[in-house]
Amino acid sequence: MDYSRKISERQWNLPDKGELESHREETYMDDIIQKDHIQRKILEHLDGIQTVFDGGAGSGRFSILLAKQGCHVTHFDISQPMIDKAKELAEAEGVLDRITFVKGALEELHGYNDRSFDLVISFDAPISYTYPNQNHVIGELVRIARKRVMFSVSSRLGSLPYLCNPVQKTQFILNENSSDPFVQWCVANRSNMIQSFRFDKQHTEQVMADGLLGGQQEIEEYEAGHAPWCITYTFMPDELERVLRGFGVKNIQLSGPGAYGRTIPREILAKLMSDPEQKKDFLDFCYQFDSNPYVCGMGKDNLMAIGDL
Ligand SMILES: C[S@@+](CC[C@H](N)C(=O)[O-])C[C@H]1O[C@@H](n2cnc3c(N)ncnc32)[C@H](O)[C@@H]1O
Repeated sequence: MDYSRKISERQWNLPDKGELESHREETYMDDIIQKDHIQRKILEHLDGIQTVFDGGAGSGRFSILLAKQGCHVTHFDISQPMIDKAKELAEAEGVLDRITFVKGALEELHGYNDRSFDLVISFDAPISYTYPNQNHVIGELVRIARKRVMFSVSSRLGSLPYLCNPVQKTQFILNENSSDPFVQWCVANRSNMIQSFRFDKQHTEQVMADGLLGGQQEIEEYEAGHAPWCITYTFMPDELERVLRGFGVKNIQLSGPGAYGRTIPREILAKLMSDPEQKKDFLDFCYQFDSNPYVCGMGKDNLMAIGDL
């Protein structure tokens, strides 16, 4: 098995992963914007969709939404803690009977027949965690789709600015007094992270060239028994489009959820988010701006693609 898959499996199988992921929108404003964007795209593209495969479905952000729209969803994920959390949330929403939960790896979809699902989705980078098999996985996800695919993968152009920003997540913390341990850690370590930061031009150019976040250091951490962040393959927009076209996907639309929001200082973002009327208008506008294909690469960290078969 490739290291990226082993590392990803261990990281996502941490016992509290499902619980933490299910609270992201309460804690981080970039997650609010990204989820809102993806949700709107899904709801706009549901014509004739009855069956859905959600690959790397996590704690059910989108599988539950789709089940609530009346679809039958196969919720597929490598992590049991994520599946357990999704089951709990699906039960609370009354849609347990419309979701089939499957534990499995995206690298092994050969058990599914061609064109098994009207819609195949995979959001917030599961495809990127399957490096070096990301293109094969895209091909397999397209193979099992009948009408449409909707994916979001890690964006190379969107990720590169963070190599020069040690306090990236701090910009998006909704409430600095939140009890979330990572929020507290970010707040407490902000000054230290800035003081100790040094721009690594060689590393940044390397990521620009090969698209890979993580590698040898993660392998060593994994071997030492830890659960490092997954090795992540980041895509360029034209590359993702080319790969999808190569597998026969048509009418491809690219977008960059979070591109507008990332330009705005934290204090202003927090102000907008705390006023329901402004929040609604702001999210409406983010959706328009981020749907423009010219900004797709600068999505907060995801590059989104929709296409037909
Ligand atoms: C960032 S979460 C996104 C979850 C969900 N798609 C969403 O947007 O809320 C990534 C998910 O991908 C799953 N994952 C990672 N590598 C995977 C693989 N090789 N096969 C299947 N699932 C995987 C993880 O367990 C995790 O639930």
